[in-house]
Amino acid sequence: MLQIQNIDVFYGSIHALHNVSLEVNKGEIVTLIGANGAGKSTLLKTVSGLLKPKNGDIRFMGKPIGGLSAQSIVSLGLLHCPEGRRIFANMTVEENLDLGAYLRRDKEAIKKDLDAVFQRFPILSERRKQHAGTLSGGEQQMLAIGRALMGKPNLLLLDEPSMGLAPMLVQEIFRVVKEINESGTTVLLVEQNASQALKIAHRAYVLETGKVVLSGAADELANAEEVKLAYLGH
Ligand SMILES: Nc1ncnc2c1ncn2[C@@H]1O[C@H](COP(=O)(O)OP(=O)(O)O)[C@@H](O)[C@H]1O
Ligand SMILES: [Mg+2]
Repeated sequence: MLQIQNIDVFYGSIHALHNVSLEVNKGEIVTLIGANGAGKSTLLKTVSGLLKPKNGDIRFMGKPIGGLSAQSIVSLGLLHCPEGRRIFANMTVEENLDLGAYLRRDKEAIKKDLDAVFQRFPILSERRKQHAGTLSGGEQQMLAIGRALMGKPNLLLLDEPSMGLAPMLVQEIFRVVKEINESGTTVLLVEQNASQALKIAHRAYVLETGKVVLSGAADELANAEEVKLAYLGH
């Protein structure tokens, strides 16, 4: 579904991604783990067209997307749920969700997807008329995920959805991500919570200072000594 081959990404003279290759197959949860500053968000921003790779190739469902605008990439069904949620605090929950469907014209299907989001996140349904800024951190994260789902993703990019949440809510977010995947959406999940991410993922990549240093089946990486020491704290 997603094929990244040998990309390099720069911020001015800062070389943020070095010759990175990564694949996501249809139906998978692939997790990208790595310390703060490793380049995880940079990779997601590059896939979703917010940053342009200097070289290399990115394909989504067989189509080269490395040169496309972020809007064209969204319309192909590649949705990015950014780090820090980025919801619109002064708009209602429902307005935020409507925005997630702004490129779609299929009114009936949009209505059905809105109902599905409310079913998946009953708390958002209860608070549909409330300003999003009044929601708790966990609820805002659910809204951010719900908004991405309103774009009808084939591939969902999630950037640190569990960041800053209380442990119980962290569990809830990982459960939701697994459910979304089981109902047919392919997921590329960026996380600093490596232990939880490796539990729900099929495969994983480890990024260190802009380079992929390890990749493999999630259960194998969870048992690899270098991953245990550096990312799992044991
Ligand atoms: N807008 C930017 N301008 C310059 N450097 C940036 C910018 N965003 C990120 N970086 C740098 O790129 C590297 C990777 O950052 P980032 O992708 O945000 O890491 P992560 O998401 O893994 O924490 C870091 O060294 C960071 O300082
Ligand atoms: Mg980040």
